[in-house]
Amino acid sequence: MNIIRAKNYQDMSRKAANIISAQIIMKPDCVLGLATGSSPIGIYAQLVDWYKKGDLDFSRVSTVNLDEYRGLSHSDPQSYYHFMHENLFRLVNIREDATHVPDGTNLDAASACAAHEEVIHFLGGIDLQLLGLGNNGHIGFNEPGEAFEKETHCVNLTESTIQANSRFFASIADVPTQAYTMGIRSIMMAKKILVIVSGETKADMVANAFFGPVTPQVPASILQMHPNVTVVADEAALSKVPADI
Ligand code: F6R
Repeated sequence: MNIIRAKNYQDMSRKAANIISAQIIMKPDCVLGLATGSSPIGIYAQLVDWYKKGDLDFSRVSTVNLDEYRGLSHSDPQSYYHFMHENLFRLVNIREDATHVPDGTNLDAASACAAHEEVIHFLGGIDLQLLGLGNNGHIGFNEPGEAFEKETHCVNLTESTIQANSRFFASIADVPTQAYTMGIRSIMMAKKILVIVSGETKADMVANAFFGPVTPQVPASILQMHPNVTVVADEAALSKVPADI
């Protein structure tokens, strides 16, 4: 696991965007696994900026997203479909049919999840998977549990995740209680993984997930077993790990 120290959120975003940009330049028809949430917003803004300056070309890039709330329409401002279009897809020259967010409008969980998994296989797997780190150690919506979940599946969100995500909704009652998410196996199959973490509230989890035991109680801990993981974290997020790391 390669850990890159960043000064703050802006620096983390720029360093992580550099890694994604290098992936696109090295392999213009690459498959990017993408995440939503607060952490990647600065990365997407940076990539859009480089695209506008003519330094990046998304015309042959394909994307698959980690997760989506079950039951939200595409036009719902809180859907991850909407988030991805607002923050990236409509701002760069990616083909609409090359972007794949799990279909939260399909209430048939088995069919929605199987379709997403099929897309990943059809594309030949993910070259670079971007991940944020949940406060409780989740990646995607793989919540702490008894076992590492496998492929794309439907989950009941935990109280802690519903609480954390309620900041984006009018009230906590509006937060969906279920989501479709790529599983740990789908994530671990990616050739490269890029994790971004910012802020002191994640510092304990950074120490647990990346320096503690590998356990399904801390889903992100499994990343210690992946052969090609880069973590870009800011000083605040790294404040609970030794300074020489
Ligand atoms: C989002 C996702 C989640 C977030 C995590 C961190 O697609 O899969 O696992 O990455 O909840 O969220 P933020 O970045 O908002 O702290």
